[in-house]
Amino acid sequence: MNFLELVTKRQSVRRYLDKPVEPEKIERCLEAARLAPSACNSQPWKFVVIDDEELKNKVASATYSNLVSINRFSTEAPVLVLIISQRPKPFARFASRVKNRQLKLSIPHSLNICNWRV
Ligand SMILES: Cc1cc2nc3c(=O)[nH]c(=O)nc-3n(C[C@H](O)[C@H](O)[C@H](O)COP(=O)(O)O)c2cc1C
Repeated sequence: MNFLELVTKRQSVRRYLDKPVEPEKIERCLEAARLAPSACNSQPWKFVVIDDEELKNKVASATYSNLVSINRFSTEAPVLVLIISQRPKPFARFASRVKNRQLKLSIPHSLNICNWRV
C-alpha cells in the first residue's frame, strides 16, 4: 500500500476486539508517533501506555461525561495511550515568538495582495 492509499483508506476505529494488544504493535505505534515533527525538534510530549484495567477505566471515564458522551467507546479499548503535552523548551518558545512576530508582519502584506479578510 502506498502513502496515498494509506491516507485514503485509514479511518478512526471505535470498536475493539476483546483481546489484549501485542506489545510489538503498541511499540510500532509509539515509534510512529515519536517520529512526528515538532518545533525545533523539541518533542514536547510523553506517551504513557495504560493497560492496567483499573487505571484504564479511570482514565477512560475522564474522557466523557453524561453531558458529552461521545468518547464513551474509550472504556471498551483494550489499551489506552495517554499523551502528555510538555511545556516547550526555552529555545522552542523563543523561536515560536519570533515566528509569530514574523507572521503578524507578513499578514498585512498578504491581505493587500489576496484581499483576504481576517
Ligand atoms: C483534533 C481531533 C480531535 C478529535 N476528537 C475526537 C473525539 O473526541 N472523539 C472521537 O470519537 N473522535 C475524535 N476525532 C476523530 C474525528 O471525529 C474523525 O477523524 C473524523 O470524524 C473523520 O473520521 P475518520 O477519522 O474515520 O476519517 C478527533 C479528530 C481530531 C483531528
